[in-house]
Amino acid sequence: MTDPWRKLHAPNEGATNEWYTPPHVFEALGVEFSLDPCSPPEGVPWIPVKTWMSEADDGLSQRWFGRVWMNPPYGRVTGKWMHKLRDHGNGIALVFARTDVKWWHETVRDADAVCLVAGRLTFVPGDGQKAPGNSGAPSALVAYGADNAEAVAQSGLGMTLVHKSSEESTSVA
Ligand SMILES: C[S@@+](CC[C@H](N)C(=O)[O-])C[C@H]1O[C@@H](n2cnc3c(N)ncnc32)[C@H](O)[C@@H]1O
Repeated sequence: MTDPWRKLHAPNEGATNEWYTPPHVFEALGVEFSLDPCSPPEGVPWIPVKTWMSEADDGLSQRWFGRVWMNPPYGRVTGKWMHKLRDHGNGIALVFARTDVKWWHETVRDADAVCLVAGRLTFVPGDGQKAPGNSGAPSALVAYGADNAEAVAQSGLGMTLVHKSSEESTSVA
């Protein structure tokens, strides 16, 4: 069989990462996080999180703790962040629903739940951005850990698929 990943390029590679998760996502999730490992240096004021790490800290190389909120840098590097969250096993990632790429297949299969977000999120512009921007692609919330699976399932943000090992059977909420 030919390598299914060989013709894929990394969309959003080189795009600025200073786009922030809109507040209504956190209101819908209704949980507090221990750590945001990929954040602007000053943090994002509406994210309910106690500690954050910026590019200067290199959150990817740090020890993670507690419930992690992760909206990672875009492009090829997203896979490294997803592998780290999968291995950490406690948190929620907001990523593009790139069901065709290798990192999705390697990491989302181990999630307790994945919520395919309805419609398109409008991200909040950070420094250097002029206006809110529609993401131009579908998003997904990927949850590791039973509490986090419950949070995405009850959020009403989209269609949630719960992993078989987390529930009696695969279900849609
Ligand atoms: C898409 S934004 C998400 C910000 C915020 N976590 C949120 O949910 O709105 C990704 C952030 O990761 C930061 N970043 C990039 N590389 C990083 C690194 N190696 N370690 C920590 N943060 C990094 C960027 O500066 C940017 O602020």
